Amino acid sequence: MSKVLYIKASPMKERSNSIAAADAFVDAYKKSHPNDEVKTIDLFSMKLPDFDFIAASGKYKIMRGKPHSPEEKRAWDKIVATVAEFKDADKYVLAVPMWNFSIPYRLKQYIDVIVQPGQTFTVDSGGNYKGLVTGKPAFVVFARGGEYAKGTPAEQYDQQSKYVESILRFMGFTDIRALMVEPTLAGGPEVAEQKRNAAIEKAKQMAGEF
Ligand SMILES: Cc1cc2nc3c(=O)[nH]c(=O)nc-3n(C[C@H](O)[C@H](O)[C@H](O)COP(=O)(O)O)c2cc1C
Repeated sequence: MSKVLYIKASPMKERSNSIAAADAFVDAYKKSHPNDEVKTIDLFSMKLPDFDFIAASGKYKIMRGKPHSPEEKRAWDKIVATVAEFKDADKYVLAVPMWNFSIPYRLKQYIDVIVQPGQTFTVDSGGNYKGLVTGKPAFVVFARGGEYAKGTPAEQYDQQSKYVESILRFMGFTDIRALMVEPTLAGGPEVAEQKRNAAIEKAKQMAGEF
């Protein structure tokens, strides 16, 4: 039995294009893997730990091999619990909107919480980084109001898929399967509906091979 962690990073509920495609993926996946467990986390409705002065101080202490103060330990325990939930999965599904060419702030906060030394990556004395989340596939739906296809002038503005893929790789992921839903705004409502439906169909197909 595999455990799938489904991370929703759009607040738009049933109006979200990334969630519509990722939901279709998860529904199809459940049908073809009836014994697997899917845990869903909605980043806009859950409480995420703050990553403030105390948490950052705790992070630097770990990187310098120093012990935590009681206050840092309390903050760090919350971070470690969130990381543990993340690492507990065997497979990952992410629904990610583009916001200001990048990602919604809640997903950035989640990333700032889970990307931690000794938890999801290590660094040796020579400054070499190594990801610790290995051998696990990720399926990521990227929804964008405009179009940012590879090889077009707009591609340079895409700090959404590039960033998410690079931070996943930093944590050790090598099998990242991306699905784009675009344009969800710039082409008007008919094009948006057509792109959303096409993405839903493609997501169902991709679930069979996950
Ligand atoms: C705060 C905000 C910022 C956005 N910024 C961009 C942007 O920079 N580029 C773009 O193409 N679309 C942008 N959009 C449009 C979204 O990318 C688009 O609506 C997409 O479908 C969102 O994903 P979702 O449907 O899963 O919520 C933005 C939307 C919001 C709400």
